Amino acid sequence: MYILGIETSCDETSAAVLAAEGDTLSICSNIVASQIETHRLYGGVVPEIASRAHIEAITNVTAEALSVAGITPKEIGAVAVTSHPGLIGALLVGVNFAKSFAYANGLPLVAVNHIKAHVAAGYLTDTPPKPPFLALVVSGGHTSLFDVTDYTDFREIGATRDDAAGEAFDKIGRVIGLPYPGGAALDRLAYEGRSDAVSLPSPALGADTLDFSFSGLKTAALNFVNHCQQQGTAVPRADLAASFTASVVEGIARKTEQALRQTGRKSLVLAGGVAANSHLRRRLLELCDKMGVTLVVPPVSLCGDNGAMVAAAGYFEFQRGNLADVSLNASAADQY
Ligand code: KG4
Ligand code: ZN
Repeated sequence: MYILGIETSCDETSAAVLAAEGDTLSICSNIVASQIETHRLYGGVVPEIASRAHIEAITNVTAEALSVAGITPKEIGAVAVTSHPGLIGALLVGVNFAKSFAYANGLPLVAVNHIKAHVAAGYLTDTPPKPPFLALVVSGGHTSLFDVTDYTDFREIGATRDDAAGEAFDKIGRVIGLPYPGGAALDRLAYEGRSDAVSLPSPALGADTLDFSFSGLKTAALNFVNHCQQQGTAVPRADLAASFTASVVEGIARKTEQALRQTGRKSLVLAGGVAANSHLRRRLLELCDKMGVTLVVPPVSLCGDNGAMVAAAGYFEFQRGNLADVSLNASAADQY
């Protein structure tokens, strides 16, 4: 069957078509219209502008996804849409479009959790994982560890208590003058600096928990920048990028190792926008090799927000009969 996936939770408008057979999924099309250039002017996502840009793009993006896949609406078996969590105005555009599309074409509708969708990007790799496995989601809004016991059943066993990893990357990127979103630029800059140059706290909390806290790390990095400015010295940007990245990567690796030991899972799926970070990918590969765990990481193109991951998550919800109806609403809140 074909599944149409629609994603509008933040600053990418995306639609994709997947072909599914049993547990095997393949991408027929995955169109992503990014609003990054628009939001860059403001140094971050402006929710109202995001909603308006989704409204303008959603119909053409969906039409293109169908045209590239070479199918008509009548050939689709289900419509999956991100309904939560995310920016509420942005989510409402996708939800309302998906409801109308499904209603007009007499198709089943599936509501998808955006974080579960990031994990479902793992099913679109050459080595799709089979539950149970451990999932680490690191994105602009989340840093969470999940014990995934079935394609649709997630238990959050660790999470950030304040800021997310991506948010911290973007904030530090901004104060050292990198364009929004700072994550990818900081990733590259970190290669030019020394990771032991600036002493920064770890985002990993104590041994009795799998939780993270990024606010102390973020504040320490900002204080370092302020201190340099007060002293009239140039901020050693590459050293700060390298030290900050090392602290984030080591903290995440420590809690991931603890979660793997605690659950005994033998596969790890790394997902979310920050999963594109080359230092994090390398460190987790090293950890998994050491522990005899299989690491599944989507290609960078499927780490950021996209419709294909929504269709993948939606397919498994559909298989289990978890359908939405025309009363579906969007929600900004987390629920797994
Ligand atoms: O998953 P995503 O596309 O959107 C959310 O659901 O939040 O994640 C976006 C986040 C941004 O904070 C961005 O800076 C970060 O992912 N990101 C990176 C890298 N590429 C994107 N962070 C670190 N290193 C990267 N290479
Ligand atoms: Zn996301």
